[in-house]
Amino acid sequence: MLLRVVTEDWVSAAIIVGTLPLIPIFMMLIGWATQARMDRQWQLLSRLSGHFLDVVAGLPTLKVFGRAKAQAESIRKITGEYRRATMRTLRIAFLSSFALELLATISVALVAVTIGMRLVHGNMELYDGLVILILAPEAYLPLRQVGARYHAAVEGVAAAEEIFAVLEAPVPAGGTGVVPAGGAVGVAVDGVTVRYPGRAADAVRGVSFAVEPGETVALVGPSGSGKSTLLNVLLGFVRPTAGRALVGGADLADVSLDGWRERVAWVPQRPHLFAGTIAENVRLARPGAADADVVEALRAAGAGEFVAGLPRGVETVLGEDGAGLSAGQRQRIALARAFLADRPVVLLDEPTAALDGETEAGIVEAVRRLAVGRTVVMVVHRPALLGVADRVVRVDAVVGGADDRGDGNGGGGLGSRAGGGSS
Ligand SMILES: Nc1ncnc2c1ncn2[C@@H]1O[C@H](COP(=O)(O)OP(=O)(O)O)[C@@H](O)[C@H]1O
Ligand SMILES: [Mg+2]
Repeated sequence: MLLRVVTEDWVSAAIIVGTLPLIPIFMMLIGWATQARMDRQWQLLSRLSGHFLDVVAGLPTLKVFGRAKAQAESIRKITGEYRRATMRTLRIAFLSSFALELLATISVALVAVTIGMRLVHGNMELYDGLVILILAPEAYLPLRQVGARYHAAVEGVAAAEEIFAVLEAPVPAGGTGVVPAGGAVGVAVDGVTVRYPGRAADAVRGVSFAVEPGETVALVGPSGSGKSTLLNVLLGFVRPTAGRALVGGADLADVSLDGWRERVAWVPQRPHLFAGTIAENVRLARPGAADADVVEALRAAGAGEFVAGLPRGVETVLGEDGAGLSAGQRQRIALARAFLADRPVVLLDEPTAALDGETEAGIVEAVRRLAVGRTVVMVVHRPALLGVADRVVRVDAVVGGADDRGDGNGGGGLGSRAGGGSS
């Protein structure tokens, strides 16, 4: 394009070449002047939007407890701050793009004026003048677009930095040992105490229990007593402050965590489904699995019927976090992952929380099938699932301050039950 201008008219070409670099130079100058401010603004914006989301997501709970009114003031304050922060950010964005647009316009005007002069003096053909005039703004277009994209990029960088902060957060490093081979391995916690960083109290204190290979153990205890934390310890996500976790008789601190996690299927308290098809979501557990295996896993998890009833079956596309499915359906798809993964050790965190009776019965049956021949530790909230367990371990809430219990939790707190199929 510039070449065309050069061949048509070198004066205009010289003006364009002379003014083009001004745009990036000004962009950098503006960038430097506002960088710190922009960074702060984006941080503020993302913090506010996160806060806003928390408050809104928590509204149903607050409503139930009659506290929704009290949150109105908080929401008003957040939205007010959000608006002001957005306006400040937009002002900077508008000002900088205004400056760039102005620069480009003045440069084109400069070209236009010289062409006009030469046309008047008869030094230039009308055709040439028109061609240059039409082409000149095109020369600035890409750079102006860069200016417009710049703000989108700043936003992206801010988001990416947050993501990397999570990705780069140190994960407890594992050892290099291997978990003793064999089918179902036993797991145990031995005097485990966990205190999360920045917390004044222990999340769990001095808990001990052992799960034999092939045994199904239910963890029960009040909310906040550290049941999920204990599963996280067994997964190697959380390192005990004191005590140790044993897997297959080896200290989890000494074994390779990747190797260990290949032996474990885990269904967390709130399993996340990704935007994608049902099949893709189940296949997460074993990416190479054949279609038939995916269908089989769904069937085993008690999801076969409702998935088959969907117009597109396993190819049904789910929204973010399983939008379009009920809680029970999401839970069964998460269980299907555990079936497909087919690992010797299974950790389930409250698989029947928030389900109605009929759905719960389906999941209890699915868990009973899953438990056969596997070592299972499951956090249980409601009695229905207790029937699946061979043994119940009670986890008590840590009582503030006083070191009143270090005795751990021997098995059989609530009495042993005849196991449903597991050996
Ligand atoms: N990632 C975390 N950081 C700090 N504290 C946590 C974290 N996870 C859980 N806790 C705290 O540890 C305690 C036990 O939590 P949790 O293991 O989730 O209990 P449960 O699953 O029995 O309801 C709670 O007081 C909780 O607030
Ligand atoms: Mg929990």
